[in-house]
Amino acid sequence: MRIHKIAVIPGDGTGPEVIREGLKVMEAASKKFGFGYEKTVFDYGGERYLKTGRILTEKEIKGLAKFDAIYLGAIGHPDVKPGILEQGILLKTRFGLDQYINLRPVKLYNAAFCPLKDKTEEDIDFVVVRENSEGLYKGLGEFKNKGTKREVAIQISHNTRKGVERCIRYAFEYTKRRNKRKKLTLCGKTNVLTYAWDLWQRTFDEVARQYPDITTDYAHVDATTMWFVKNPEWFDTIVTDNMFGDIITDLGAMIQGGMGIAAGGNINPEGVSMFEPIGGSAPKYTGKNVINPLAAICALGMLLENVGEIGAANAVETSVIKIVKTRLKSLSAGKMGYSTQEVGDLVVENL
Ligand code: IPM
Ligand code: MN
Repeated sequence: MRIHKIAVIPGDGTGPEVIREGLKVMEAASKKFGFGYEKTVFDYGGERYLKTGRILTEKEIKGLAKFDAIYLGAIGHPDVKPGILEQGILLKTRFGLDQYINLRPVKLYNAAFCPLKDKTEEDIDFVVVRENSEGLYKGLGEFKNKGTKREVAIQISHNTRKGVERCIRYAFEYTKRRNKRKKLTLCGKTNVLTYAWDLWQRTFDEVARQYPDITTDYAHVDATTMWFVKNPEWFDTIVTDNMFGDIITDLGAMIQGGMGIAAGGNINPEGVSMFEPIGGSAPKYTGKNVINPLAAICALGMLLENVGEIGAANAVETSVIKIVKTRLKSLSAGKMGYSTQEVGDLVVENL
């Protein structure tokens, strides 16, 4: 039997609640589709940091590299200063395991949950390929004259040919494999950020020559946010840098029905990938059994696809679509008409 070794990091806030439902779905899928898995749970997150002062060590990252995939709930704690856990755990894992792609599908499962007027499920079905290892997220910069009236804060967007090219290549391959409209849009800011986006545009144009079957397009990031609202049907696959990808995928999550359903994968195509709901730790809903676990369950579906369980991955998505279309009243926390656990049970029943 195929056995997948899965590292589970429930993390903070509602992370543990949604991961519990995801694991329930994994258990059911493993029985139905005949695969095995070994899960190892890690307590990385804000609670551990507050108790022990430990964030995430190099050794712990090396430990995560031994798994077939990582399943993450959420990182972020109201009692910890912003940045410490996000940089020290989430970004450190993405960078440390060289998960250089952040893959974020934006798919509307039920038009009733879309805030855009007159948009159907066919209109909102695209994927954002976000560069996940460079750009402004690299943490390069400095203060000059800190705390004085002459203070200058410099934050550098660091883009390498290698980093940009591997991301763009992944996006072309993904567009080909996705096999929908075979269109790849580069989302950037060539009109102002003339160093970084010159490199991106040149690399994009060069790689595009090797994919004659794929239609290419370019949109400035500001215009992209406008098109997401006005004409989301124009998009198939979008490739962009780390910062822009972060911003446009929150908007993407809203047009697909909200954070309750938005999942993402931090992918190292040659190594270990990590899957997570993108909504964060949602402290105000913690422990109330009201948070929507579907984002975590969709992330599990992506994880299953990544480890080669295609049948199980498709079944998870089909089950999610079914309950989103026929059962849930809303995708938002507390308004679903069901508890967190009941939504998990519904996915299992319909698997
Ligand atoms: C995300 C999050 C993270 C990011 C934060 C928590 C560091 O917003 O996954 O989009 O900016 O990448
Ligand atoms: Mn974000």
